Amino acid sequence: MNEQTQMNRNEKIEQKIDSLLSVMTLEEKIGQMTQVRHFDDITEEEIATRHIGSVIHTQGPVPGKNAKEWQEKFERFQKQALSSRLKIPLLFGVDAVHGQNTFEGATIFPHNIGLGATQNEYLVEKIAAITALESKATGFTWIFSPCAAIPYNEKWGRVYEAFSENTQLTTKLVEASVRGHQKENYVLATAKHFIGDGATDFGKEGGETTLTREEVFERLLPPYQAPIKAGVASIMASFNTLDGLPMHAHRELITGLLKDSLQFDGIVVSDWKAYSRFGGNNIINAGIDVVMAVDGDLAQFQEGVRNGVLHGEIQEERINDAVRRILRQKFRLGLFENPFPDSSLLSKIGTIEHREIAKQAVRESLVLLKNENETLPIKNANRIVLVGEFADNAGLQSGGWTINWQGTNENYAGATTILQGFKNNTKAEILYDPTGEGIKADVAILVVGETPYAEFFGDIGGEMNRYQLTLTSEHQAYIKKYKSLGIKTVVLLISGRPLVVTEQIQEADAFVAAWLPGSEGEGIAEVLLGKHNFSGKLPHSWPAAEKDFSGKYGPNFWDSFIKPLFPIGFGLSYPNVKTN
Ligand code: BGC
Repeated sequence: MNEQTQMNRNEKIEQKIDSLLSVMTLEEKIGQMTQVRHFDDITEEEIATRHIGSVIHTQGPVPGKNAKEWQEKFERFQKQALSSRLKIPLLFGVDAVHGQNTFEGATIFPHNIGLGATQNEYLVEKIAAITALESKATGFTWIFSPCAAIPYNEKWGRVYEAFSENTQLTTKLVEASVRGHQKENYVLATAKHFIGDGATDFGKEGGETTLTREEVFERLLPPYQAPIKAGVASIMASFNTLDGLPMHAHRELITGLLKDSLQFDGIVVSDWKAYSRFGGNNIINAGIDVVMAVDGDLAQFQEGVRNGVLHGEIQEERINDAVRRILRQKFRLGLFENPFPDSSLLSKIGTIEHREIAKQAVRESLVLLKNENETLPIKNANRIVLVGEFADNAGLQSGGWTINWQGTNENYAGATTILQGFKNNTKAEILYDPTGEGIKADVAILVVGETPYAEFFGDIGGEMNRYQLTLTSEHQAYIKKYKSLGIKTVVLLISGRPLVVTEQIQEADAFVAAWLPGSEGEGIAEVLLGKHNFSGKLPHSWPAAEKDFSGKYGPNFWDSFIKPLFPIGFGLSYPNVKTN
């Protein structure tokens, strides 16, 4: 679309919004601002009676085993919305953060930390476009991704949702992701979580961010500025506090900075249950437009805002601003013309073409940290043994936000495990030793790492304290066992963040950081067997010791004096194999 046509279109949209707004009741406006889950929070009929504006899906109970059932369910909801007086269609939102990861059978891409290692903005754009397409095919029009965080402390359980600790790289990839989402299979993208989510003291999810305003502006803001220029449809507020204020109630930064200074014209959406969590109407006055009124918050939110307006606590202007932004995105999306899911997209879910792109992403995301004794690529080996439970388990190789919110420890439909990937790519005998007993072979690939986690559960230290900076003793023992047998060892680390593995790097002949590759485990075999080269570069500096995490930020090396084991950008490759 050229600039003039775009301007005319935008003008027409604003006129349509004006005429709709002029006839809307307060209840209808508040309804547009309301987001609920499609189960538990609401009955189908209440979509119309409560004037609901959007529906969110995070994880089960799933609408059904096949995508057609999803489309049908959302079609029923949409019909309810369209049966109401003003016939404003609903948006359907999903946490599709590495592919449409709530649907079993979708293409699951490496988590963003792996994409950060690829440094490949074209690939990130393609991945976002496929995610948009597979999300649309399951009935969704709004995606709560990409994460624009700059992690300051690897103890944070969401490090892997972010691309990198580097602001420039993150900015480039967030922008590419937004472009991809909002291209031919246009869905609303969401840059999240504004602002300071990854920079809390001690890496605590929802903790306090104590950076100065200058630091926030210089380091954390660019990954929002570029996407705003590129037209990102929505921005999600963060759970953390800044200046001692919950970000959801931070008027200066949400309204003052985002909306007024940066001219962001999209939706500011709250995070989970924010109304009861962060001070009720304060968050509306701060500039939140859509509220995830989930998990028991629905009536409280709708009545609270209504009373707030009636008692002069919230200006109706503020409500109009929120509704204008919501309607603007619905019009831009073409939702009024095409409110229903497109059944012709059903066949596009998890296609071979999409999986090929995911496999490419896996290959490009792998970072080779050590390669001695001519260990990699694996050539002329007759017997290769893969070791550990992670080697043959699609859930474990995919991390959190896969099928379930906190991920799964089981195989899921359509995925290829790392073990299967080797079987598909070599004539050598592939053996499997799930518990590290020790099996004679020419080379052993020890697949070790972190079990899946997502927000809150994945923080190291803190309240949950389920994870650690080092490998588990079992995983450390696998490596020692194979070393003691005199077998060449390749350690393949599956993790959502750099871990402290200094000793294991010394022990192993070769060491690969594989991050959380997702459904296409075969990409790993292709690189380790030398069909493709390594090209991944570290998106984080790699820590040397646990003691380096004693401060509130952990060793975020770009301004610290702590020497990393490997600097950001490090990554070896084979001398004689062409790059991807
Ligand atoms: C997370 C968001 C997510 C939302 C909806 C929250 O707890 O912080 O990233 O989009 O839930 O599932």
